[in-house]
Amino acid sequence: MKFVHKNANMTPIVDTVFKVVSQAKEAKLKYGKENVVDATIGSLTDEEGKLVALNTVFTSYNNIESSIKAGYANSFVGNPSYRKQVANWLFSDIQLDLPHTVIATPGGTGAISTTLQCVLSKDDIVLFPEIAWGSYKLMAQEYGYQQETYQLFKDDHFHLEDFKNKCETIIQKQKKLVVVINDPCHNPTGYSLTNEEWTQVIEILNTCSKQGPVVLLNDIAYIDYSYNLDQVHQYMENFNNISDDIAVVIAFSCSKTLTSYGLRVGAAIIMAKDQKDVREIEIIFEKYARATWSNIANAGMENFVRVTQDHYEAFMQEKAEYIELLKQRSEIFVKEANACGLPIYPYKEGFFVTIQMPNNEIREQYHQALIKENIFTVQVNKGIRVAVCSISVQTVKGLAKRFKDIYDKL
Ligand SMILES: Cc1ncc(COP(=O)(O)O)c(C=O)c1O
Repeated sequence: MKFVHKNANMTPIVDTVFKVVSQAKEAKLKYGKENVVDATIGSLTDEEGKLVALNTVFTSYNNIESSIKAGYANSFVGNPSYRKQVANWLFSDIQLDLPHTVIATPGGTGAISTTLQCVLSKDDIVLFPEIAWGSYKLMAQEYGYQQETYQLFKDDHFHLEDFKNKCETIIQKQKKLVVVINDPCHNPTGYSLTNEEWTQVIEILNTCSKQGPVVLLNDIAYIDYSYNLDQVHQYMENFNNISDDIAVVIAFSCSKTLTSYGLRVGAAIIMAKDQKDVREIEIIFEKYARATWSNIANAGMENFVRVTQDHYEAFMQEKAEYIELLKQRSEIFVKEANACGLPIYPYKEGFFVTIQMPNNEIREQYHQALIKENIFTVQVNKGIRVAVCSISVQTVKGLAKRFKDIYDKL
């Protein structure tokens, strides 16, 4: 290595998603759109396959004054109006009794990577879900952490026992525990923990925290597409019961919430029992922010405030139509999968359904067999991800059976 730092990992990113996305594109050109199932795209698309860019969001954005678009943010931790509104957005319908603070970040990615970098040292262990968004792993590799994983499911519910065992092993060994839970609407299985499961998760972490500090990173990237929006923040009241030695960081993202993936706006919401601990983390996050990206897009933050305050009703109504569409697509897929015996992970809500593939070698073969039949999906650990967010109702119909038939012929 000549120019890059001495610890650099020189293996290029193997972007498996990018490859299959371009294969799907080629197939559509060659065989015609109607003959190809492209379930690779992880963003919400309409029934014609066009990326959804909510009208309420972008009319508001287009009306933002140029001077706001041009200007720097007010602060390295985000505009005060944005910080306040993010907290409102998440907590106004629940009773949260913990001191907390909001730091604006470049998307949910920024919130997650900032948290990991600010709470872990090189060679530390971090605990991820076994089936997960690929960037967690990349972050851990880049920053030099050791990774452990917990199994997600026992039958059709969250595997509390394995979660407990993994947490206990790490806290015993390391005297510090940092764990990621991507919930609700887990990517890529579409599982959401019940309130009772969350209560038990907090109990497990409280016990662990007797041996050392615990950081719970709750990635809520897809929360605003829950099928139960009225109750979706309820589980966060469990955070009121954390011990003095637990900090919770919520990673929030405007990417999905506002269909604003490219604007790169998100937030890390830090909470703990003691205001002093919240402030300690905030100081480190603020310096990290200033040193890394300086400040977040001013107009992106301003748009979140305007959309969720001034255009709330219209925005929620427009978003609800797409949630309904997502629900329709996923219901058909899940119902048909159950009917034909296609094994899927326990889906409740969200952008993706995942077919169970406990053996990654068979998964690889299966993925290829699907491609031969012009069905394009994304491989995830122990599964095949089907992006119901981006396939039309018409395409979903009969799809589970096709998956099953191809599997049976392997
Ligand atoms: C599970 C999960 N977390 C976080 C993110 C972060 O997205 P962004 O950085 O665009 O907010 C994504 C994006 O796909 C995701 O799937």
